[in-house]
Amino acid sequence: MPHSTSREKPFNLTRMSPARLATSLFTSSFATRPTVAASAPGRVNLIGEHTDYNGGPVLPVAVERRTAVAARAAQRWAFISGTEDEVHQIDIDAPMRRAWTDYIVGVVRELRSLRAAPPGAELSLATNLPLGAGLSSSAALTVATAKALSLLAGKRLSAAALVEVAFRAEYHQVAVRCGRMDQTIAAHAAPGSALFFDTSSGMLRPVPLPGRLWIVETGVSHRLTGGSLNERRRECEEALAFCREWRPGLGHLAQLSLGDVPEIERRLPPPLVPRVRHVVTETARTRSAADALAAGDLITLGRLLVEGHESLRADYESTIPEADLIVASAVEHGAFGARLTGAGWGGAVVVLAPAEREARIVAEIGSDFQKRYQRMPVTWSTRASRGVRRETIPQ
Ligand code: GLA
Repeated sequence: MPHSTSREKPFNLTRMSPARLATSLFTSSFATRPTVAASAPGRVNLIGEHTDYNGGPVLPVAVERRTAVAARAAQRWAFISGTEDEVHQIDIDAPMRRAWTDYIVGVVRELRSLRAAPPGAELSLATNLPLGAGLSSSAALTVATAKALSLLAGKRLSAAALVEVAFRAEYHQVAVRCGRMDQTIAAHAAPGSALFFDTSSGMLRPVPLPGRLWIVETGVSHRLTGGSLNERRRECEEALAFCREWRPGLGHLAQLSLGDVPEIERRLPPPLVPRVRHVVTETARTRSAADALAAGDLITLGRLLVEGHESLRADYESTIPEADLIVASAVEHGAFGARLTGAGWGGAVVVLAPAEREARIVAEIGSDFQKRYQRMPVTWSTRASRGVRRETIPQ
């Protein structure tokens, strides 16, 4: 994930809002005040994992933690992050540096192609999102940056245009083979609702989510650039090519149905079978989960979360033992359900628990985790929050 560094400052531990932090960081780093600021949320994906790049549905929720960007037009490009001490002066056309600054460079390049980038800018960023925790700190960064820099260039891009700039920055410039889920929720989220997003049709439908979700961080950080996510995506593309031999015209894996699974098991090379099975079953689960949430049926929703986790563990092989333990413990202590959220190979578990017992359940999870790993996991809760917004520059 972006912005990991060995010299982390406790910027994201304060109670100040990210917008205030980004502004004060800007002022102390560039000796002048920013002229625009914007922020975007991280997300927790309730269900619909690894379906977005297979034409399936997803059901993410924007969290209350955000990344903020403050900026001012300048003769050069210079960036600073609240997790570092150093101002990076950047040549936008130079090769990528395999650092968090690449995400901003990617956004600038994509905005340029829309004539929506300023000629240069100084920019600061601050976040209270945990990094590398599967909560989409990269999309929060790219969407907030796209908003701030386009405003600086005098353009008002639609939410859909911000999604496209942020997606292209990550996919084409940074070369993480992500889908569009994270950018879409960061740009379109409405407070109090999860967002059902059908990636094949582009249909967006808010689904009310009145309560709180709990996040239990495994403390195992993932790095997506060039890693396991790209490998899984290659496997899915290979599987699609095989499936097209008996289903010419198949658009994507999520178009296959549960009834096709026996045929898939017969025809595909064995290592690809469980990958496709996950995509097909997860697509069905995600549709049912959106219906269950809309009907307020948290028992069914919870069961689907647990089945989704099991599918990630056994079929997609993207979970880690720490997450498996948290899910098992959550279920044992009375949660409706829980599952590893985000790409996987580290990250955080989302827990859906009855409001009157949630604090106790989370405490029990912590104690089970402590017994096994001799450390307490970081836990916090969130309500469904809002998407990208312009921030007024705090005084
Ligand atoms: C990452 C990607 C998303 C999605 C998830 C897995 O977060 O950025 O597009 O593919 O993994 O569901």
